Amino acid sequence: MTGPPEQKTYLIAGATRGIGRGLVASLLQREGSVVIAGVRDPEAETARSLEGLTRGKGARLIVGYIRLQHLQSTHNITHLDVVIANAGKSQDFTPIHKLDLTATRSLFEVNTLGPLRLFQAVYPLLKPGARFLVMSSMGGSIHVALTFPFSVAAYGISKAAVNFLVAKGTPTSYFPSNTCGRCADLCCPAAQENPHLAITALHPGMVETDMAQAAIAVIGRENLTKHDGTASLISVEESVAGLVQLLEKPKEEVTGKSLDWKGGVVPW
Ligand SMILES: NC(=O)c1ccc[n+]([C@@H]2O[C@H](COP(=O)([O-])OP(=O)(O)OC[C@H]3O[C@@H](n4cnc5c(N)ncnc54)[C@H](OP(=O)(O)O)[C@@H]3O)[C@@H](O)[C@H]2O)c1
Repeated sequence: MTGPPEQKTYLIAGATRGIGRGLVASLLQREGSVVIAGVRDPEAETARSLEGLTRGKGARLIVGYIRLQHLQSTHNITHLDVVIANAGKSQDFTPIHKLDLTATRSLFEVNTLGPLRLFQAVYPLLKPGARFLVMSSMGGSIHVALTFPFSVAAYGISKAAVNFLVAKGTPTSYFPSNTCGRCADLCCPAAQENPHLAITALHPGMVETDMAQAAIAVIGRENLTKHDGTASLISVEESVAGLVQLLEKPKEEVTGKSLDWKGGVVPW
């Protein structure tokens, strides 16, 4: 006999458009779910229109800035089961020798410090078993992105940097044991410091969104998909269908890892 579906509280940052909006739409279908859609301008049409999404029985949608105190006092949010740091920004595909430092810094602000800021903000509400997922990118994979037929340097380094927060260290010949006793305080990233949580980096696939459209305008559709092993961009719905399945995997299978929307491991 199966009991009623587990009712969970989800927080998605960058919920107005693209993959974030798709995640909100999908998770809202879950009976009794509470979905917090983090947006930077609650008055924008893209944010207001989230209220029109259909929802499962008893599901609740909260749209707004991510302010913990407000969520606790006004919406009675006492914990978060799943947090997805999805907000992200891409840029032009300028070669490294011409990269504008101000523009590059702005990518770090959103893609690297954004998830870090969010992790620190929600930390008090992450109880054992909670999940924190960072929407990273194949573009941040040092192994894969260097094979791209175009320069993804600014975006790539901001995503590679955020991956560092997630990756769980493995003993190497340089450092055969991770039992120095200081790691938890000094040098280990989020997954290693927090064995009670599942912390994962995600590559959502090459997805038909505004971000992808902007990239296509510069480097061409074929170039964008070629490295991903797919002939064409996938839809938001396809990406989200895969991503939400990852939420059901046992914590040990996903924490400290970089996974794509199909559950495949993306090399760091
Ligand atoms: N699409 C792909 O093929 C692809 C591939 C790999 C990884 N990703 C990653 O997946 C995530 C979602 O991408 P997407 O394709 O859905 O992008 P998108 O359609 O361009 O949507 C980006 C989302 O992030 C928000 N955002 C952008 N800049 C922000 C800022 N400075 N502060 C707060 N929020 C900000 C946007 O909010 P506003 O509406 O307010 O601008 C929007 O909700 C990103 O992290 C991206 O790097 C995407």
